[in-house]
Amino acid sequence: MGGRLLASSQPEPSLSDIATSAAHGEDSPYFAGWRAYDEDRYDPATNPSGVIQMGLAENQVSFDLLEAYLREHPEVSDCGAGFRENALFQDYHGLKSFRMAMASFMETIRGGKARFDPDRMVLTAGATAANELLTFILANPGDALLVPTPYYPGFDRDLRWRTGVNIVPVHCGSDTGFQVTAGALQAAYDEAVAAGASVRGVVLTNPSNPLGTTIERAALEDIVDFVARNDVHLISDEIYSGSVFAAPKLVSVAEVVEDRVRRGGGGVDVAARVHVVYSLSKDLGLPGFRVGVVCSRNDAVVAAARRMSSFTLVSSQTQRALAVMLSDAAFVAAYVRANRARLRERRDHMAAGLARAGLTCLRGNAGLFVWVDMRPLLDEATVEGELRLWRQVVAEAKLNISPGSSCHCSEPGWFRVCFANMSLETLDVALQRLSCFTERWNKRV
Ligand SMILES: Cc1ncc(COP(=O)(O)O)c(C=O)c1O
Repeated sequence: MGGRLLASSQPEPSLSDIATSAAHGEDSPYFAGWRAYDEDRYDPATNPSGVIQMGLAENQVSFDLLEAYLREHPEVSDCGAGFRENALFQDYHGLKSFRMAMASFMETIRGGKARFDPDRMVLTAGATAANELLTFILANPGDALLVPTPYYPGFDRDLRWRTGVNIVPVHCGSDTGFQVTAGALQAAYDEAVAAGASVRGVVLTNPSNPLGTTIERAALEDIVDFVARNDVHLISDEIYSGSVFAAPKLVSVAEVVEDRVRRGGGGVDVAARVHVVYSLSKDLGLPGFRVGVVCSRNDAVVAAARRMSSFTLVSSQTQRALAVMLSDAAFVAAYVRANRARLRERRDHMAAGLARAGLTCLRGNAGLFVWVDMRPLLDEATVEGELRLWRQVVAEAKLNISPGSSCHCSEPGWFRVCFANMSLETLDVALQRLSCFTERWNKRV
């Protein structure tokens, strides 16, 4: 029956504008590279010449610590414990015990320098949902958000696709280490407003995906001033906040806002414009658990987020299990310390391997990836040249890395390369392939 329908000469039934929109961004090389990997996955035993996935910001370096904890605390993953409470309908707030545990975890990874009120936290199914939910709350279809480039390719989907909100890229270049400045934000804002846009806010990632760097306090203070001056909002996506492994330490915008509230003046006003997004997908390596959160001091935003969260709640069973684990202060402290040290080791290993391949990367202090300068390998300094190089790396070195153009980088030749989603052995195979690739490339030129 289905086959006959497909073979019919009748036109296909039409779908909504959102369902058929290209704003999702799935045609970008970021997602195309994932498909290349899916079709020919590297496996050391069964497919040693397959594609190695270096385009996925997953953290697998500390799974053994989580697994050891689960072995020692079988009650955490026992579905029978609290079965009835888990099975019944939960209210939109989520479990208080879990929000308290999340608040305390977020405070720990910020060195106790920022406070999070569990009653002003709204749980979501990952940071993806948190970012979309905040966009729905802060902007109308057709409004704009300023996003410094290069930015996380998923933002095209999360901030733009279903909300109908536009992204105005704020181009940052290698001359400033790709760091955004309040001056660049103001120039982009003025230009967008002059062109008739209604700019509702700024979205930052701190630490940055794809740069693997943190924003310095002075720059953050300037950005908060920009937000207050122009009557807009700030979403700070701090999904990598527990993955800062070298100096300088993370300064969360929550800390900046808290200091301002304490000092008085316009602090309370600015606090109502700043919203922090977090998730357990990166620091704990649990993207499959789908746990994210919106934190805001703005009561109206919290109330709206709570209502909207009914589309994107976290399962009670997941909340209950993670509440136990994250409430164990000794475990959390040991995990965060060990995870940071392992990420730092990985990053150093990666940078050394890149150097052997004759490549350099931006000096990063956070995240699960490095931002690699492959400009010397371009046949021409254009997006087309960058994509040609990317296709060659996928086809010849069998490595899926993410071209900077998929992050809307305005300088061709930069690539994001992930290092924490594979074993050290696989990383060494990848680095060896990269060395062979650059060697061949240099001989060709
Ligand atoms: C900056 C940023 N925000 C959001 C996400 C999505 O995270 P989640 O799995 O929690 O939805 C990612 C994932 O790569 C990310 O890098």
